[in-house]
Amino acid sequence: MTIERLLGIQSPLIQAPMAGSQDSRLAIAVAEAGGLGSVPSALMSPDQLVEEIAAFRRATSAPLNVNFFCHVPPEPDAAREAAWRASLEPYYRELGLDQSAIPDGPGRAPFTHDLADLLDGDPPPVVSFHFGLPAADLVARVKGWGAVVLASATTVEEGQWLAENGADVVIAQGWEAGGHRGMFLTTDVGTQVGTFALVERLAGSLGVPVVAAGGIATATGVRAARTLGAAGVQVGTAFLRSSEATTSPVHRATLASAAAGTTAVTHLFTGRPARGIVNRIMREIGATGAEPPAFPLAGAAIAPLRTAAESHGSSDFSPMWAGQNAIAAREASAAEITEELRSAL
Ligand SMILES: Cc1cc2nc3c(=O)[nH]c(=O)nc-3n(C[C@H](O)[C@H](O)[C@H](O)COP(=O)(O)O)c2cc1C
Repeated sequence: MTIERLLGIQSPLIQAPMAGSQDSRLAIAVAEAGGLGSVPSALMSPDQLVEEIAAFRRATSAPLNVNFFCHVPPEPDAAREAAWRASLEPYYRELGLDQSAIPDGPGRAPFTHDLADLLDGDPPPVVSFHFGLPAADLVARVKGWGAVVLASATTVEEGQWLAENGADVVIAQGWEAGGHRGMFLTTDVGTQVGTFALVERLAGSLGVPVVAAGGIATATGVRAARTLGAAGVQVGTAFLRSSEATTSPVHRATLASAAAGTTAVTHLFTGRPARGIVNRIMREIGATGAEPPAFPLAGAAIAPLRTAAESHGSSDFSPMWAGQNAIAAREASAAEITEELRSAL
């Protein structure tokens, strides 16, 4: 069966779920233009998630992908948190902020039975996971809905593991990709694989379709992915400047500038490696410098800096997730971007 039929879409183009940069509007626009729209749950409350799914369903009868993280929440480590806060203290002083008032979050919620309960009555036809797969009973529950299960692999071993453990489609997330690395069998960023090699190694060898992700932002990139054997593509960064994305003003402005040409993988913003546009804190601490608290706890102490700086139009402390081809992201409607990418499929 083709991946288009499996997913119930016209062209094998998946709009990458992008927590913090989109809601149902982007998903609706891409779905209406013939791709697969995705709603990311990681930064939404359960009520928000239910509302975004309902908004999608009110707008279109196209299939929807709902995306979940499936990390194991860490035990807080007071010493590591204290060291992290100490390394941020000069910035707190500079911005006139007080570390004694740091609130919790922004946490990222993993997939749980409680979340599955919310979807039970009217489950989405497609569910995608990042950071591996949830526990086997949860995977079985999602499959019991009849949902197609997608999951991201960043190495050949991860692709094999996902195919053997319930993924119906494997997303080959190359090193070029924006946002969090979906890595789950390794923590070694030095051995992460580029899109070219990963897609070519995985395509045709897993027994399930392989979708290419990472650095694909133009019709040329889509054609290259297909040539390498990808059954489809998942595209994120190319949609960040679309009118339907909720990309923040500083992120949008930076994407439109020459700075978008320089991205790096950093653990500073959340505690897990993720690719974003290099900014002041990444330059000064080092993208993989310090030892921030484990994912997603690092975000709490960064958040007040980010809010204060952004209120002055500064991106100094903002995570600006973007892939290595961010410079190709253009300001257009999501339908126009979808049409361009679809033309190569
Ligand atoms: C702003 C942003 C947010 C992201 N958030 C998520 C997410 O919530 N869930 C997820 O599975 N992947 C997320 N990703 C990664 C994408 O699924 C995908 O791997 C990536 O966008 C592909 O590379 P590209 O950005 O170069 O197209 C995000 C990527 C970006 C750019």
